[in-house]
Amino acid sequence: MNDSSVHDVSAGGPGRGPGPGEAVLEVRDVTVRFGGLTALDTVSLVVPPGHVVGVIGPNGAGKTTLLNVLCGFIRPDHGEVRIGGSPQRDIRPHQLAALGVARTLQGVGLFSGLTALENVMVGATRQAGAGFWSSLLSLPGAGRDERKLTGLGREALDRVGAGACAGARPGELSYGMRKRIALARALAGRPRVLLLDEPASGLDETELAELGQLIRDLATDRDMATSLVVVEHHMDLMMSVCDTITVLDFGRVIATGTPQQVKDDPAVTAAYLGTDGQGAEGAKNE
Ligand SMILES: Nc1ncnc2c1ncn2[C@@H]1O[C@H](COP(=O)(O)OP(=O)(O)OP(=O)(O)O)[C@@H](O)[C@H]1O
Ligand SMILES: [Mg+2]
Repeated sequence: MNDSSVHDVSAGGPGRGPGPGEAVLEVRDVTVRFGGLTALDTVSLVVPPGHVVGVIGPNGAGKTTLLNVLCGFIRPDHGEVRIGGSPQRDIRPHQLAALGVARTLQGVGLFSGLTALENVMVGATRQAGAGFWSSLLSLPGAGRDERKLTGLGREALDRVGAGACAGARPGELSYGMRKRIALARALAGRPRVLLLDEPASGLDETELAELGQLIRDLATDRDMATSLVVVEHHMDLMMSVCDTITVLDFGRVIATGTPQQVKDDPAVTAAYLGTDGQGAEGAKNE
């Protein structure tokens, strides 16, 4: 896709919002091959507005690859990604924010030399004119942009319960808190769709409960109206936060439905039994 067609989408992009009944994000028959390995095989997924869509599956099933396709890190060999109803044949990662899509990485991925607030401000640049880098370089308009960025950054930190850590550097914070900062960075751009890769890993029980509440709040908040795609092994969390769950196994969708439907599906249990000797409910909680 050339730049002009991307502009068509972003011009009507996040502010426009999807039309009635329109999926915010859709994957149609996507196939990704790495050499001889088919990591995704004709995978389809629909993300309606304000829904939490879960993606689960054993290790190596293709979950992260699917997120990488959604955010333009990987270009599918076949199939299509649609954002806000418009086909995106060649999404570039730097265009994602303008399309209203943000993601967190598997792991944390913060800049160690920046404070928590500064890390989050990086995620808000689309909302603040010239942006974070011009603030750093003291370019014209930088003062105004920096105030706006700071406001957005603080708002996002407060939203994830990390406001008190604004001035700390990642190395001074617990793993759970660093994950919150990473989430705040994704939220700071006020995305229409948020892609989360293993947000629960490394969190304790209290942090998990708070994460679950936060995910539901984001999806149901009328102002934010965020849709979420969550990749996660933690079954209890997924059962409690997802509206629908898609199950991948060896790159294929083997089940899609409500959490209860997926939990009761023998094919899902068999997929997990085949890899780690546990039922779907007992999948690893890491
Ligand atoms: N860049 C790559 N090059 C080659 N093979 C890859 C690449 N990325 C992923 N794969 C392979 O594609 C398959 C799917 O990997 P992916 O990381 O999407 O799985 P996953 O479901 O996220 O697994 P996990 O639960 O362990 O995070 C695996 O067999 C993996 O080894
Ligand atoms: Mg993964």
